[in-house]
Amino acid sequence: MFTIDIDETLSARDFYFELNNQLDALLSGERDLICNAAQFSAFIMQTLPNLNWAGLYFVRQEELVLGPYVGKVACTRIPFSKGVCGAAARSGKIQKINDVHIIEDHIACDAASNAELVLPIIVDGKIKAVFDIDSPLKNRFSDEDQHGIAMLVETFTSSSDWNWQIL
Ligand code: SME
Repeated sequence: MFTIDIDETLSARDFYFELNNQLDALLSGERDLICNAAQFSAFIMQTLPNLNWAGLYFVRQEELVLGPYVGKVACTRIPFSKGVCGAAARSGKIQKINDVHIIEDHIACDAASNAELVLPIIVDGKIKAVFDIDSPLKNRFSDEDQHGIAMLVETFTSSSDWNWQIL
């Protein structure tokens, strides 16, 4: 059994460094993308407080298709032109949304979501996926959270083989 053991008295910066070490250990020895995406989503839900959804959407011909996640059932396909995930995919920039209700084309999958962080995953200069996290708390994600979670996404990305095909 893999146990995750984090000292909660750490500063935000050290908390994320510690989490990153644990994630590195969790994913070491495995490069399968789907396997690591599932583990990564569960790891985030298990270690970060106040989240209701965490998971991947993979790029498939100018469209995002739902991948492994933890949370309530979600929309399966999101065009690049729509939603917070689409904005991350087409701009290649992290989208940190303090209140999803003021974003006109936000796509509501879980009515409990009030804040959202979407991080694009770019490999060899190409957008491959986005990692999406939702929270029931407005203003859930600070700049420190954004930087820390970006580090975790980078560890997941570099630990996985992105040259995969379905069957
Ligand atoms: N809220 C996202 C859609 C995905 S779900 O939150 C899981 C968006 O606006 O793109």
